[in-house]
Amino acid sequence: MPGDQATGRTRPTRRQLLFGGAVAGFGAAAAIGADQALRLATPVAEQGRADAHNTDTHNTDAHNADAPSGTDVVPFYGTHQSGIATTPQAHATLVALDLRDGIDRDALRRLMQLLTDDAARLTQGEPALADSEPELALVPANLTVTFGFGPEFVRRASTAPTAAMTSNEAPAWLCPLPAFGIDRLEPGWSDGDLLLQIASDDPFTVAHALRMLLKDTRSFATVRWTQPGFRRARGSEATGTTMRNLFGQVDGTVNPAPPTLDFEQLVWIREGAFAGGTGMVVRRIRMDLDKWDRLDRSGREQSVGRTLANGAPLTGVEEHDEPDFAAKNAAGFPVIAEFSHLRRARSENTAERFFRRAYNYDDAPTGEEISNSGLLFIAFQADVDAQFVPVQKRLDELDLLNEWTTPIGSAVFVVPPGCADGGYIGEGILR
Ligand code: HEM
Repeated sequence: MPGDQATGRTRPTRRQLLFGGAVAGFGAAAAIGADQALRLATPVAEQGRADAHNTDTHNTDAHNADAPSGTDVVPFYGTHQSGIATTPQAHATLVALDLRDGIDRDALRRLMQLLTDDAARLTQGEPALADSEPELALVPANLTVTFGFGPEFVRRASTAPTAAMTSNEAPAWLCPLPAFGIDRLEPGWSDGDLLLQIASDDPFTVAHALRMLLKDTRSFATVRWTQPGFRRARGSEATGTTMRNLFGQVDGTVNPAPPTLDFEQLVWIREGAFAGGTGMVVRRIRMDLDKWDRLDRSGREQSVGRTLANGAPLTGVEEHDEPDFAAKNAAGFPVIAEFSHLRRARSENTAERFFRRAYNYDDAPTGEEISNSGLLFIAFQADVDAQFVPVQKRLDELDLLNEWTTPIGSAVFVVPPGCADGGYIGEGILR
């Protein structure tokens, strides 16, 4: 693996890392016991390297059900960053950082080289350099680390000679979303200069990766917000089961699926410095479970237009049945109400679609409330203004779900493309 001249950091081989070729690696090997470390690290690391440059969709079904799944890896290197088309892992923590004053383009390059190196190792089940708890890195459990840049990151990355300026042009949509009437946004859950989405099937792995990565950001940035989220534990349900949210709804049925052409066209940016990347919208949406408790089952189903049992449209039987918006009930009203979330979220313009990859959150309740829960709504699309905003505008105007949901955080990032071994995330604008 080539050394990284610009940072003065080199990527030692696994053998050097484990047997003392690198200063930090020596500590790691000594701490684990070299034999054990080599035994544990070998299959994971080699599996990951062999798959490098593949697309990042991993297939959890391929795994032998009897074997521990902690050593499963998602390739880090490739055209696109992992963690987007990747089958959603059970746990994800999103952390947004604010850049410190004085962090300029050169510093951003060093930062991204450091973080890329950490992520490349950790995702393949290898300790990060100077990993203080190297044993914890040996269970990646499909760990992915996805980086997104906020407007300020791209602005600082662009303060370069004119030649770089033109190729660095930030997408026009890279700014806070328009204000919506339903929003009750809190600055503590909004915006940010650099986004890390750390996802794994094991929350322990997420915690370790988060700590390792944040250690390396310390002199460059401060944490603005951290949002952990979860889905069902891996193995609880068959792979491919659509997730449920804390309202009990099947959430994610109509969603462009990787690796289809439809997904590729909707999600990946095709031109410019961010080609191969995507736009990322993060909305923290509070779901008032205490109020939802007062709604009967029929009301709950009408709010979306789908059944709670299996997520079928109210005019159908199976989850993926096509809804019949023309169907009327005995009283002559549409079976799927005009104000239902399903009807309002679906655009006649098929270009106004995006990929949803959400997680649930469940915080400690405060005061008299029983629940403090909601959705980390995460949407990926090539063009936030053209694809996401029109849908959010319609939901802002009318959506029965708004009775029980309130957006309290909002952020927009551009996710740069992936990189090859020896490169780093963000090199398209920082090189
Ligand atoms: C906490 C807030 C939300 C909840 C609980 C929620 C829940 C749901 C549920 C249960 C479905 C039906 C199943 C499915 O196709 O996924 C759905 C569909 C959908 N939602 Fe949401 N949603 C929320 C917020 C949003 C937001 C903010 C947007 C975009 C601005 C959005 C866009 C969509 C879209 C595009 C669909 C698919 C519509 C179609 O069938 O074409 N949702 N949502």
